[in-house]
Amino acid sequence: MTDHLFTPENLVSRLKSMKERGEKIAALTAYDYPMAKLLDEAGVDILLVGDSLGMVVLGYPDTTSVTIEDMVHHTSAAARAKPHALLTADMPYRSYDTPSEALTNAQKLIAAGAQAIKMEGGIEILPQIETIRSAGIQVIGHLGMLPQHILEEGGKYHIKGKMEEEQQQLIQSAVALEKAGVAAIVLELIKHDFTTQITRSIQIPTIGIASGPDCDGQILVIHDLIGAFPWFTPKFITPVLKTGADTRQAAADWIQKLKKNK
Ligand code: KIV
Repeated sequence: MTDHLFTPENLVSRLKSMKERGEKIAALTAYDYPMAKLLDEAGVDILLVGDSLGMVVLGYPDTTSVTIEDMVHHTSAAARAKPHALLTADMPYRSYDTPSEALTNAQKLIAAGAQAIKMEGGIEILPQIETIRSAGIQVIGHLGMLPQHILEEGGKYHIKGKMEEEQQQLIQSAVALEKAGVAAIVLELIKHDFTTQITRSIQIPTIGIASGPDCDGQILVIHDLIGAFPWFTPKFITPVLKTGADTRQAAADWIQKLKKNK
């Protein structure tokens, strides 16, 4: 059960007051119990059960194969850590094609222990967002480069907000999402000076990833920060640990020692 101090509404209004007083919001992904517990103990403000689990946990090439069942399974595991951070779960690809589908799937994630859900898209998914908000569920938006659209983007990540038309669409979407009652917006791979403009145009917090330092907060995939997925490191981050390489070495040392002693 949610401790009354850590209700979704309290946590969301805390994020808004952090923006007002200029305190940066720290968000990290976690896909299971131990990582959710560790990051919560470290003092993270938002824990995201991201559909990036498709790549860093499930071994898919992108997020488009992640199902609502995968998200429910991992959200339940992270929720068992009873975090004090706002536990947010991603709505996976094609799980919010219509408002009623969006609501049914959002409710599954909330039943699994999420306190908010995150959806990729702007004005085009406004009916879905409004339906979920009318059911009292907190929503985090996601604008810019949308990983669930990677196949339409030709399999590559592209910087957004470079062209005037794209900038207008981004601002319009950010303002519309705020009006629809969204709690915060993730801005992914957006031209840095334009991110600043979006952040100043809305009262709700922006949480950036590869979008420059001027967002109200930053989010990272935990595997990227700690080097736990050594086969791929995004260009914008230098891992602070070598978790993957160290794990491989620890296992190799143990195997060698065991075999030597027969
Ligand atoms: O799925 C995810 O981890 C995300 C963040 C990188 C923003 O959406």
